[in-house]
Amino acid sequence: MGGVDRSPDHGLNRRRGRLHRGIRELTQRIYPAVPQFIQPLFVTDADAREAIPGLTDVWRDTPATLITQVRADLEQGISKFLLFDIPPDKHDQDFDHDFACEQIRALKQAFGDDIWLAVDVCLCSSTTHGHCGILNEDGSAVLNEPSVRALADAALSFAAAGADCVAPSDMMDGRVAAIRAALDADGLESVAIMSYSAKFHSGFYGPFRLAADSAPAEAAALQDRATYQIDPARSDDALQCSLRDAGEGADILMVKPGMPYLDVLAKLSDAIPLPWAVYQTSGEAAGFNLLDQHGIGNRARLNREAWTAFLRAGASMIISYDARHARTWLS
Ligand code: PBG
Ligand code: ZN
Repeated sequence: MGGVDRSPDHGLNRRRGRLHRGIRELTQRIYPAVPQFIQPLFVTDADAREAIPGLTDVWRDTPATLITQVRADLEQGISKFLLFDIPPDKHDQDFDHDFACEQIRALKQAFGDDIWLAVDVCLCSSTTHGHCGILNEDGSAVLNEPSVRALADAALSFAAAGADCVAPSDMMDGRVAAIRAALDADGLESVAIMSYSAKFHSGFYGPFRLAADSAPAEAAALQDRATYQIDPARSDDALQCSLRDAGEGADILMVKPGMPYLDVLAKLSDAIPLPWAVYQTSGEAAGFNLLDQHGIGNRARLNREAWTAFLRAGASMIISYDARHARTWLS
């Protein structure tokens, strides 16, 4: 640099790159896009659809409104869905998946391959006690093996009914392998598995549990899901679970919740070369909605910022209750 007179701001002027909208757009490295979104859906056997406390523009749909909602979402460019069924009757074993399978068949009949349909696989909406697995006699423990058998059974029913993907959210050990084996044995090798591989024991699931009628029962001996979901202080456990699920044949791995676990998402997506989903949970969505309702935040802007953070941290897809607003909010 001999002889060249260096401007005193050399290397220090960072604002130059922010001054014009043009340079801001050109230097922006992340553009969340509508095709990256998955919209959760709830369906229950009721006569009218119901609002969900905390969530805006999300419902417990009836079989009829499920179809009209998906049609409306398709018009907004949203074509990937994660379906949660709330079975009409609770059982603690010998689960009945007929209601869910009817909805899956109806969706695929109406929309075929215009939609990519993932179906959540868990037992907490089915059981009387609200736990994600089958309990021992006195209700003090979730039994791994019988739970895995029941989960594989459910996944097989959903896949046979037409699901493109099954998404186990229970956090039992070995369920991905059991589901993969069950699907392959039945000629369903083209059905994908999205594993909730790094799902934490979180306080951000509140609105969901009302929507899915899946909160652990007050009277239950086991008061929470700490014996199967990952402790928030243990990213090592999240990495081990994700490595294992990858080895068992998961096609997509997941971090859930999203914003409090960006470090986990960044580390794990770096470490494991599979597609990563992030689940922006019901509590995260509700927080933004409340800020907006109180006039101290803007839903669209808050979501844009969160979605950008998810992609920055390494997600390739975002499960969001506000997916159906992505086109409007991102344009
Ligand atoms: C149940 C399940 C939960 C969510 C997805 N599947 C809640 C839980 O584990 O209690 C969370 C979804 C959300 O909060 O948006 N296995
Ligand atoms: Zn569950």
